[in-house]
Amino acid sequence: MNVPNLKQARIRTNKEVEFKYDVTGIDDKLKIGNKTFFIKTYGCQMNEHDSENIRAMMLEMNFKEAKDMDSADIIILNTCAIRENAHNKVFGMLGRIKHRKEMDSGVITCLCGCMAQEENVVEEIRNKYKWVDIIFGTHNIHELPKMLYDVIKNNEKRIEVLSIEGDVIENMHYARDNKYKAWVNIMYGCDKFCTYCIVPYTRGKQRSRKKEDIINEVNDLIKDGVLEITLLGQNVNAYGKDLYDDYGMEDLLLDVSKTEIKRIRFVTSHPWDFTDKMIDAIASCDNVMPFVHLPVQSGSNDILKKMGRRYTKEEYIELFNKIKSRVKDVSITTDIIVGFPNESDEDFKATLDLVDYCKFDLAYTFIYSKREGTPASLIKDEIPLKVKQERLEVLNEHINKYALENNKKLIGKTVKVLVENISEKDPNQVCGYTEGQKLVNISGGADLIGKIVDVYISDAKTWSLDGIIK
Ligand code: 5AD
Ligand code: SF4
Repeated sequence: MNVPNLKQARIRTNKEVEFKYDVTGIDDKLKIGNKTFFIKTYGCQMNEHDSENIRAMMLEMNFKEAKDMDSADIIILNTCAIRENAHNKVFGMLGRIKHRKEMDSGVITCLCGCMAQEENVVEEIRNKYKWVDIIFGTHNIHELPKMLYDVIKNNEKRIEVLSIEGDVIENMHYARDNKYKAWVNIMYGCDKFCTYCIVPYTRGKQRSRKKEDIINEVNDLIKDGVLEITLLGQNVNAYGKDLYDDYGMEDLLLDVSKTEIKRIRFVTSHPWDFTDKMIDAIASCDNVMPFVHLPVQSGSNDILKKMGRRYTKEEYIELFNKIKSRVKDVSITTDIIVGFPNESDEDFKATLDLVDYCKFDLAYTFIYSKREGTPASLIKDEIPLKVKQERLEVLNEHINKYALENNKKLIGKTVKVLVENISEKDPNQVCGYTEGQKLVNISGGADLIGKIVDVYISDAKTWSLDGIIK
């Protein structure tokens, strides 16, 4: 048994990252089969992508994917720790699974992802949810098949969470949700330690993958019919800094753009590491999409400082303007936290002013959530939750207004859309995303799926556009 340790998770040493190429793969003994599984994923794209890895391993063990959780023999909760409500949802789900377990003791429950890396969570599960069969963390996903074998064949329980800085595991398999779009990890972990954020503790230190491994993966995806890739990392602009003397995100973008891939995106950027060369790379490569997700978090310099974000409002705006002026038709989206401990009315007003200035294409907005073990969690907060909720509402009104305004600017224009699905709302429509990452619903049939088509934008809503095939 290995339980998480927060103090250890905080440590960063100069220990060299190990690149492990031969720890994945499932031998015949592990191909147990004869059971169904269901993966419930919470949180960010990184987790979605990890779930694709888990799904691939489960299928290779000859398990079959169940349609829903209630009919699955093995339930895997891939959890998120970023805010309290993600936590609560998982504990709610564990309550539901408990009922199922009472009726059918053979159901196997696994909990993994960021919550598994938290000391208090694992302690609570060990005390109150003793029936959970497997807990594993973000550093040892590839060990799931062996753990499942031990549970199924040897009737053991396994808690294996490593609070280490982390290695880079290569040759992982992914069973993707989407045929035409794929995520490609370019780095793991984060060393920024923003004072509110749990990620550096749950995901370990920043570890970049080798450029040749990334390019090889992209080439394999192209062979597989993938048209769009999203380069993934907590802080992609810092790519390479931990691995190379003179090779960074801008170089990687240029190299990936030389492959035959049609569309390249990347998330998430931190304003701190966003170089001019990066902007040039986005502006000059046709297959790098004009879309930048650039979390600002707050418009108040005082709060930015307390958050440990390493930039001022003025520096953010300067970068924002540079990207806007150099990258044609660029969409810029952001993340904003309201109600950081002791955020004053003036601080909040500064955030609104920044939003009014930047007029973001979209923003993900959150009420600050206290995460145990982070520096911000130690600050005594005087602001009532009700005030924070009111601020969030006001902020969202501003955000939605600009989202609609920006979308309306596209009416009458023809844009390129990668059609990826039948529309959820109307079976006679298909949907896809523009180069600037805007959702478009288009009248048309399934024959359009998997194609990049010219679409005339006929109408605009806050969250989506309507289009007609040109
Ligand atoms: N409370 C609220 N929001 C948070 N985020 C990260 N940590 C917290 C927290 N403790 C938000 C940030 C980040 C996004 C992924 O989640 O805005 O950019
Ligand atoms: Fe969290 Fe900051 Fe790292 Fe983003 S950059 S994952 S907000 S610590």
